[in-house]
Amino acid sequence: MSTFLAFPKEFIWGAATSSYQIEGAWNEDGKGESIWDRYAHTPGKIVDGTNGDVACDHYHLWPQDVALMKTLGLKAYRFSMSWPRVLPVGRGRVNEAGLDFYSRLVDGLLEAGITPVVTLYHWDLPQALQDEGGWPARSTAEAFAEYAAAAGRRLGDRVQHWITHNEPWCASILSHQLGEHAPGWRDPAAALRAAHHLLLSHGWAVPVLRASSPGSEVGITLNFEAKEAASASPADVAKTRLEDGGYNRWFMDALYGRRYPADVMAHYAPHFPQGMDFIQPGDYEAIAAPIDFLGVNYYTRSIVRDHDAPDNLPPTRLADRPKMDMFNNLENPIPWEVYPEGLYNLLNRLHFEYSPAKLYITENGASYGDGPGADGHVADTRRREYIQAHIAAAHRAMQNGVPLAGYFVWSLLDNFEWAKGYLQRFGVIYVDYATQQRTPKDSALWYREVIANNGFHAENGFQPPNVQNG
Ligand code: FCB
Repeated sequence: MSTFLAFPKEFIWGAATSSYQIEGAWNEDGKGESIWDRYAHTPGKIVDGTNGDVACDHYHLWPQDVALMKTLGLKAYRFSMSWPRVLPVGRGRVNEAGLDFYSRLVDGLLEAGITPVVTLYHWDLPQALQDEGGWPARSTAEAFAEYAAAAGRRLGDRVQHWITHNEPWCASILSHQLGEHAPGWRDPAAALRAAHHLLLSHGWAVPVLRASSPGSEVGITLNFEAKEAASASPADVAKTRLEDGGYNRWFMDALYGRRYPADVMAHYAPHFPQGMDFIQPGDYEAIAAPIDFLGVNYYTRSIVRDHDAPDNLPPTRLADRPKMDMFNNLENPIPWEVYPEGLYNLLNRLHFEYSPAKLYITENGASYGDGPGADGHVADTRRREYIQAHIAAAHRAMQNGVPLAGYFVWSLLDNFEWAKGYLQRFGVIYVDYATQQRTPKDSALWYREVIANNGFHAENGFQPPNVQNG
């Protein structure tokens, strides 16, 4: 028995990448230094000692990559622009050669019949702006609006899908409080200021993009983790609520006009003895500028345990799902679980609690180290299973009325996975970094069929997952 999971005619099947992770050419054609150049060049920051200087050399090999996308039948390609390629010191002088690169890429995509979906910020802040205070400083948000204007002016006639930011939680909390991404700070107050300025810069960029790119869709991409309490004890439940607040609700509530959640504000308040004066009159209104879609990045769940509670109950929810190679927490690694139910639950939650006009899954995927076998084939069965189960979960959510309009697999290519370097392979296309040779993995060949048929047969253990209870 198998059921064909059909998708709407207009459903957008895509793949995603980001500038620093694939482009290389870190100092070519007038590009300025980014915080990721600086960070990865700092010994000890990247687990395998590598950096993105060359990465997939996409800056030079992009015509070949677009050709590969065409053979897969991709309807859309989500990539990000490097801010310091466009504005080498973050504001002021525009580097036309940088804009030329993205303009050629956009033209190449359109010629291949592939819709470009452009993310403005996927973490490579110009180092010059970092030197002036980075995201904890309000001036960085002002500079972002200038960058958005430069991008819109040059590409707005051809790009009809804009994403202001990718995962502001990572660009703020992970980078400024947990110290795991550039600039590598461990300062909760700076992290919260960064989170606010990222959202504010989004709000300021929305009207700028609408003006320079008439008729386009503008949105933002957030990352969500399914946060689930390890037990039903009050301590675990309270901690789970707070983690969900800092990770998910902080961003969603503000974007959807509800201001910041009171519990998260109270949690951070001790770090602001003078009050949170970085939130200025008019900011909430700016952040809640209406958007056309919400981008959703989903990979895994996290099971939350309050290890300090003296009277905690024994855990009843265990991390018992299959794991991928990727992990959270560099010091005390917790592998990512394969948990498609979390995507189903998340899409329902977003729809029923916030009702975004439209949603795209802008990233979803898995890292497994499988490489070419003797016959040259990459049999990445686990990745194919992961993607299949997650698309099935998304399909099931759509049956509840969730207005999901597209799915972008992360990632098109194996690439530089930030602090984890090249050890994590998320691509549906294998990259041999020594030769820059690309080989579509089995997951890519399977995905090509899904796109061609606009759906797939869910069979042999790939039935849509059940709702997670409790
Ligand atoms: C997301 C990032 C993306 C990639 C994947 C694995 O958080 O947006 O660049 O690192 O995780």
